[in-house]
Amino acid sequence: MMFGSNTLGNGWVVPADDAAITAAAQFLHAGQIVAIPTETVYGLAADAQNADAVARIYAAKGRPDFNPLIVHVADISAARKLAVFNDMAERIADAFWPGPLTLVLPLQPDAPITRAVTAGLPTIAIRWSAHPVMQALLAKSGLSLAAPSANPSGGISPTRAEHVLAGLGGAVPMILDGGPCAAGLESTIVAIRDDGWEILRPGPVTPEDIERVVGCKPLVAQNTTIEAPGQMSSHYAPTKPVRLNVTAPEPAEWLIGFGSISGDYNLSASGNLAQAAANLFDAMHHADASAARSIAVAPIPREGIGIAINDRLNRATVR
Ligand code: TXA
Ligand code: MG
Repeated sequence: MMFGSNTLGNGWVVPADDAAITAAAQFLHAGQIVAIPTETVYGLAADAQNADAVARIYAAKGRPDFNPLIVHVADISAARKLAVFNDMAERIADAFWPGPLTLVLPLQPDAPITRAVTAGLPTIAIRWSAHPVMQALLAKSGLSLAAPSANPSGGISPTRAEHVLAGLGGAVPMILDGGPCAAGLESTIVAIRDDGWEILRPGPVTPEDIERVVGCKPLVAQNTTIEAPGQMSSHYAPTKPVRLNVTAPEPAEWLIGFGSISGDYNLSASGNLAQAAANLFDAMHHADASAARSIAVAPIPREGIGIAINDRLNRATVR
């Protein structure tokens, strides 16, 4: 079969058809890592029960081992085997899964995952993605998959297979190409507490969306060190300086535009924030690869998903 000749470690992009998904499931069972699309960004997946496989994720990304991973599940019953769901968690899952939302919940004492996945925390981040390729791979493999974003640690997240290849190519034996990610920003991360809920990372599902479902406002963030290590500064960072809210770029700047400010790459000429979110990381990858010495970004309204866009842009300015 055509997959038999692949030498591991050479960054191999294949269209995510049935044969490729079957091969990817075999790779995962063999303890290998595979890059796969979700509706938010591409993930770098491994069998969540296999310590060696999970170690390969950390090694490929150069990720610090105190930064835990999201576990992707095939359905709600798989999620309940890993985490303790209270009533609020059930309601949020029911409303937004499958979809671009991750829940941080107490870890089940006997959860079938290797310890490195949660970096020793008493909680676990779980997501049920709606992407057909992720769903097919979960079904085909029968595994739960640990999968952070498929970029070098601290770098720009990938929303296309070619971004994964450029960033991690040599370290990933197989990259399933499912086309560009529809949402384009990482999932909203919601932590469930005894007394309510908290947004750990803004994303495609907004606080207003969640409030409508649970009937109460989010708690004010309490603990920003261990709870959201990936939320620290210098994340999503291009290799160049980034200047925000620019309406008139300097001659040496590569301008990421929005609406009437066109720039070198317009996130959305019509000023549509969902379209801007879907294009953001592609624009940042282009800006980073360009000959320009620095990057400028047009103002993006801070409403709806624009809040998550500005969150990523602000982190991109910290180097
Ligand atoms: O859209 C997404 O969420 C993508 C796709 C592939 O699912 N994944 C993703 O993973 O963005 P990653 O590893 O790049 O970001 C996950 C974030 C990190 O900031 C990590 O620190 C946090 O989730 N996290 C994981 N487990 C946690 C836990 N138990 N408590 C708090 N934060 C946690
Ligand atoms: Mg990430």
